[in-house]
Amino acid sequence: GKVGVLGCPMYHGQTKPGTKEGPAALRDAGLLEMLKDQGLDVKDFGDVNIPCLEEVPLSDLSVKNPKNIATDVHKVLDSGRACLVLGGDHSLAIGSIYGHSLAELDQVVVWVDAHADINTPLTSTSGNIHGMPLSFLVHELQPYTCKLPGFESIKPCISAKDIVYIGLRSVDPGERYIIEKFGIQSFSISEVDKLGIKEVVEKAINYLDPEGKRPIHLSFDVDALDPSLIPCTGTPVLGGLSFREGNYICEELAATGRLSCVDIVEVNPTLGNERDKEITVNAALQIITRCFGNRRQGIYPKDYIFP
Ligand code: ARG
Ligand code: MN
Ligand code: MN
Ligand code: MN
Repeated sequence: GKVGVLGCPMYHGQTKPGTKEGPAALRDAGLLEMLKDQGLDVKDFGDVNIPCLEEVPLSDLSVKNPKNIATDVHKVLDSGRACLVLGGDHSLAIGSIYGHSLAELDQVVVWVDAHADINTPLTSTSGNIHGMPLSFLVHELQPYTCKLPGFESIKPCISAKDIVYIGLRSVDPGERYIIEKFGIQSFSISEVDKLGIKEVVEKAINYLDPEGKRPIHLSFDVDALDPSLIPCTGTPVLGGLSFREGNYICEELAATGRLSCVDIVEVNPTLGNERDKEITVNAALQIITRCFGNRRQGIYPKDYIFP
């Protein structure tokens, strides 16, 4: 397998600047080596240019960030590699999913998160864009929302039926309304309790792509996992996915052979103490390796051909 790694030190989508340290924390902990050690051909494409708030007028940020991210994701995918996007806050998914749509037709989106992130600028009570990314991308929502200045370069590129949520447990009333009005398939943490993770993942994949043909975009917010596993994230919610459930989701998606873009978002290494950071980064790293074929049952050695 060939993977392109793209850092995306996005932090304007919420109020805690430390998410911009996410990509460096993952790289410094040995991410690239881990992926190479599992036999992958890995290329680091560096970081997307995310201008600082201090350097750029606010009106420009919204223009540049999603567009810069989309352009870079498109470039990685066009080079024939799966794209791993290291966040950064979840607003980066506006750019990564749009960029994915420029490279490949017909993507489906698996959104693993405690939150639905489908507020519109009109329904949001926080005003934080990391709680809104899907609203800019879903066709059906466009008549019910407003265009932010500068978002002209981002075109809606997915339908409500092309999304599955896994792990939700903090859904705003406006978001619940949107999910039901547009019939978005959601396996909240209650469905995980009820059905078990095996059935949830099986149902999710069959629902999105019964014929097994479509490229998959996994947008994995680390706050989907229980906060005991991910202490360093800005909006933790108790009662999350277990580490094994998180690993299982990624193993199964990787096994489809169609996982073409993965976002790992909302790692904020500046929250908590050193130990918290170590726990968070280790959990995130292991989740990433599962997305790219490192199964818990074991994988073949990388340069060994059985005689
Ligand atoms: N629903 C809340 C909001 O819209 C929280 C969103 C949290 N999103 C995230 N990507 N962590 O502000
Ligand atoms: Mn192209
Ligand atoms: Mn979240
Ligand atoms: Mn999120």
